[in-house]
Parts: sequence; C-alpha cells; structure tokens
Amino acid sequence: MSKVTFFRGQQLPLEMHKVRIIQKLTLLPVEQRLEAIRAAGHNTFLLQNADVFLDMLTDSGVNAMSQEQQAAMFRADDAYAGSATYTRLYDKLVEVFGMEYFLPAHQGRAAENILGQVLVRPDTAVAMNYHFTTSKQHVVVHGAEVLELIHPDGLKVTSDHPFKGNMDTDALRAVIAERGAEGLSFVRMEAGTNLIGGQPFSLDNLTEVSQICHEHDIPLVLDASLLADNLYFMKIRDPRCVDLEIPAIVKAMADLCDIIYFSARKLGFGRGGGICIRDEAMYKRMRGFVPMFEGFLTYGGMSVREMEAITVGLDETLDFDMINQGPQFIAYMVNELDRRGVPVITPPGGLGAHVDAMRFLDHVDQRQYPAAALASAVFLASGVRGMERGTMSEARDINTGVEPLAHMELVRLALPRRVFTLSQVNYAIDRIDWLYQNRHLVGGMRWVEEPEILRFFYGRLEPIGDWTTRLVEQFRADFGDSL
Ligand code: F0G
Repeated sequence: MSKVTFFRGQQLPLEMHKVRIIQKLTLLPVEQRLEAIRAAGHNTFLLQNADVFLDMLTDSGVNAMSQEQQAAMFRADDAYAGSATYTRLYDKLVEVFGMEYFLPAHQGRAAENILGQVLVRPDTAVAMNYHFTTSKQHVVVHGAEVLELIHPDGLKVTSDHPFKGNMDTDALRAVIAERGAEGLSFVRMEAGTNLIGGQPFSLDNLTEVSQICHEHDIPLVLDASLLADNLYFMKIRDPRCVDLEIPAIVKAMADLCDIIYFSARKLGFGRGGGICIRDEAMYKRMRGFVPMFEGFLTYGGMSVREMEAITVGLDETLDFDMINQGPQFIAYMVNELDRRGVPVITPPGGLGAHVDAMRFLDHVDQRQYPAAALASAVFLASGVRGMERGTMSEARDINTGVEPLAHMELVRLALPRRVFTLSQVNYAIDRIDWLYQNRHLVGGMRWVEEPEILRFFYGRLEPIGDWTTRLVEQFRADFGDSL
C-alpha cells in the first residue's frame, strides 16, 4: 500500500526502490545560466541538457528503467517481421486491456496521426475532457474542431475536487443534442489530464461518458499515456476503486472504451506507442497507415529493445509500489510550495508540480506570456528546466490568425518517475521560493521568431526590458558565491 512515512511529525514519501546507475550533473553559475537561456531564445525546449541541472521539462521518455526492463532488452528478437518481441508485447497488451487488436507506432502522436486519418471527418467535432497539444493538431488538420468539455472544477487552479479531469457529461449530452451523433467523430478521454495539471477522472465519470457514447454509436477513445497516475488516484480516492486490485481497475476502464492509445514514452517507462482496438473493421481501416508512416506491423517504428522494456513496464504499471513514487513526490513538492505561499495547482496531480504563472506574475499581461517568462526565471534561479504550458503552447486560429489566450498559464515542473531524490526536490522548492520573494523583478516576453505550428517547441522569445539581467544581479546579491 501507500508508502508514506513520518519523520518527526512530517509526512514524507518513501521510495520502494534503490538507485544503482547514476548520471553526474552540473550546476552552472547563474551568469552562465543567463547566457544559456539567451542562446536558447528563452525557450526551455531549446536549452542544451548539459546546461541544465535538474531536467523537469517532461516525464516523456526520461523515466528510470528497472533492472527487469534492462534485462529484458537483452533478449530482444531483432526481426523486421514476426519478431517474438512483438508477440510478447502484443500478448501483454491483450492481458492488460483485453482488446484483440494492436497497432504499434513510434510514439503517442504517431498513434494520434493514424486515429486522425481514419476517424476524423471534416466539419465535425471531437469532444475531449481536455485537449493535449498534439491530439488537438491531429483533429484540426483534418478540418474538425476540438470541444473541451472539462468539469468546471478542472479549470479552477485551486480546488479540492478529487477528479478535476472528469468530463462534464451534461455538456456532452447537450453537444450531441445540438449537433447530432454524426456531428462528433469520436469522444476522447485523457487519463491524468496533462494540460490542466495531471488531474485524474473517476471510474464513474468514464462509465457515464461510455454510456452516452454507446447510446449514440460514437466511438470512445482513451488516451492512456498518463494512465499510471490516473490509476494511483483512483486507487486512493475513488470509492469504486479503493478495494480493487490495479489490474481490475484497468480492465474496468478498458471495458468501457472502443480504442485505447498511448505514448509509451510515458506509459510503461519506455519509448514508443500504439493503439489497442476492439473492432476488427476499424482495425483494418487503420492498419494500412502503420507501414505508411511507422514501419511494418510488428514494430511500428519502435526498436525491439524498447518493445521489451514496455512489456515489462506495463507489468510495473500494475504494481502500486512502482507507480506511487511519482504522485507522492509531486504531492510533497506541491504542498511545500503551497505552504510557502507559491501559487500552485491543487490538489496535487500526476506528471509534475504546476506553478500558476498568472498569480505568480500577476503584474505581467497575459499577452506577454507570463508562463514563458516564469519558465526562464526558474531556470535562471535554479538551473531547473520546466516547461511553459500557457498561451505560448496554444496555436493561432488557422483562418484568422487570432491567438487564443490559454485557460491557464502554468509552468510545469515534471518529475520523471524514479529519477530525482527528495533533496533535489527540496532544492527546487527553495529556489522557487526565492524567486517568488523576488517576483516583482520578472517581466514579460515577446516573440523574436514565431513558428506557424507547435510554436512552443522551437519559437524564440526575448524579455521585454532587461529584467533577466536584474534578476541575475539580485541572485548574486542574495546568494554570494553560491551557484
Ligand atoms: N497524449 C498525452 C496525454 C501526452 O501527454 C502526450 C505527450 C502525447 C499524447 C503525445 O505522445 O510525445 O509520445 O508523441 N506528452 C509529452 C509531455 C510530450 O511532455 O507531456 P508522444
């Protein structure tokens, strides 16, 4: 069960693993951090990892593997077609999700590409609890729109709702009544809803969404990339799940869905992706796209070594001791930041701690990208690399060029699973606390180079005014010779 223990009255997470392979880190002096973030166009995606102390950009493809995963990678069966490795992965997926068909893909967005090609009809909509950047692009590119039907609490930064990732089922019924079932290409539920702070949905909510979809013959698609976190929260918060074993919760979820796809850069502590499907006809319609975009049907762009790692990683996803470290570290980080007055998303979710840049920098206009500014400021203060999840991560309207303002301006500090120690987390907390005390020094950003699509990946910004220099001067004044 949940491994949280008490040290002199304080609750601390306790890891149920030990670290046997390490990677040396460097912490650059603050002046060099300033040079590095300038060279990166103030976009943390463009930083060199060698210049980063703690990489909290993402949990994608950077989770620590277990010795069982590494051992399995040695027995991988290299074959273009009919690899035994593929069969092991296929069998594991059938065991876990109970769906008969599987299409491998090199990562999550490649699965979304195939789903988009086959399922998305122009001038329809795809209803989602909330969008993810790539999942939205693969709908929009086919001339359809995304409708976000998140439960109203999902967009409240602070809340005590245990399932902020729930879909608003009344809104789903209303959309179907208004547009007709044929107006929706499919409904997508995202486990551990990424962009609103890694928030879970409940089994009751998925059940209701499934009933509505199936009354109207609308396919229900589950994005299971962040399933592990959703399972953790179901196990500790969901009255329907607390007495169930994790494999039984997964089966109950899968039984409600028509398609389950995932990024195995997150699910299964590996790298890769794929689509599990129940219906043979639908499988056959999608199958042709795998050789076209990914590779042959028995590898789909994944290396055999990665497929072996995912197979073992799926078993570990069903082991509570293996999936609780991430959310418990995140809860510790969120609660400690909250205790110091730093605005964060509550309750703590999965994936990482999410700092609310709108409140942190309430003097910065939303059109000046407060979350992007805060991500740069966090790097300057600490060498910690976070990710902007705000207006910079939105896309301009394809037709009008109008830039939508994001519902939330967040800096995500992801905690890759089983990677960081609690003292590293404490360091990040302390530096962010310092930054919060000096938040008045931080200003806004403007574009130097704005790409047309997925602009947050490689767009370049500059600070408005010289606030980054002033922040570095203040750091030196307060920290002396310290890095
Ligand atoms: N769906 C969700 C919920 C995701 O979080 C991601 C990726 C994808 C799909 C796409 O998968 O990266 O394998 O192509 N999230 C990463 C992140 C990029 O950093 O949160 P992918």
